[in-house]
Amino acid sequence: MTALTTPTTTSATVPQPARLERTPERTATPRRFLMCPPTYFDVVYEINPWMDLGVPVDTGRALAQWERLRATYEAHGHHVEVIDPVPGLPDMVYAANGGVVLGGRALAARFTYPERRPEGVAYERWFAAAGDGVVSLGQAAEQNEGEGDLLLAGDVMLAGTGFRTSRAAHAEVAALLGIEVVTLELVDPRYYHLDTALTVLDGGPSPVVAYLPEAFSPASQAVLAERYPDAILATPEDAAVLGLNAVSDGRHVFLSDRATGMHARLRERGFEPVGIDLSELLKGGGSVKCCTLELRPAPTTGTTDVLTSKEAHA
Ligand code: ARG
Repeated sequence: MTALTTPTTTSATVPQPARLERTPERTATPRRFLMCPPTYFDVVYEINPWMDLGVPVDTGRALAQWERLRATYEAHGHHVEVIDPVPGLPDMVYAANGGVVLGGRALAARFTYPERRPEGVAYERWFAAAGDGVVSLGQAAEQNEGEGDLLLAGDVMLAGTGFRTSRAAHAEVAALLGIEVVTLELVDPRYYHLDTALTVLDGGPSPVVAYLPEAFSPASQAVLAERYPDAILATPEDAAVLGLNAVSDGRHVFLSDRATGMHARLRERGFEPVGIDLSELLKGGGSVKCCTLELRPAPTTGTTDVLTSKEAHA
């Protein structure tokens, strides 16, 4: 025991291992989001293992839950833009898939399945008409499901592949958006988009991420372990309620209210979990992040984003 071998040392002077350092103070920054109301949401085809034609959907309930998510963002100081839903496009509510917007430049999606392809056109039109610092780069040439598979983490874009977005799309994103892309291979069909298996909690210079290791190939697990030794590793239970499908503003983390294990881990690391009930939208295979596309402004409109300041120097 320390007290016996060094009797004059008080506990206050004993150096503390790094792990016992105080929880970091987290800072929220206001965000601009694009969302699409689930007016026409339904499950009328099955393109991921969450979708089951035999399970009825309550569209009214989905709308009420979605409105609550939107109101919760606004109550936390975030700005929400809304794109008009299109009849016959039941998955359009999952706005994260509509594209990726970086430094005010918007690349619209090119969907894998024909059922969702017209959404890419609808989102491209919205970007083209948005103004307010958003410039459309058109639709991606390669198969690309937007922020479903493209997550900004500090100055790199983490990019999922294996089920939807192609490797060729990763190269296209790197070239068009001028950013380093880190390819990550997904291997579990339940976690078919990167944003179902990984979330970026702090996008600052030393990013903090949470992820489910077994959703990735062994090679990609090694990439993640090397880049993010301090990552939060999710449990299968939290991932199975899409608890990794989260949106963080740097401090508040908006995520499924069912992912209770993840809530506890977030608190340990200084984040504030904000539980959201999106049980109806879970039937389509999506949760909070799927419903949210981040509109990252051009450098001139002012941003603390690491990538855009780097771009401004390029
Ligand atoms: N039913 C949709 C699909 O399978 C769900 C998309 C969820 N979006 C997401 N960003 N993970 O394409």
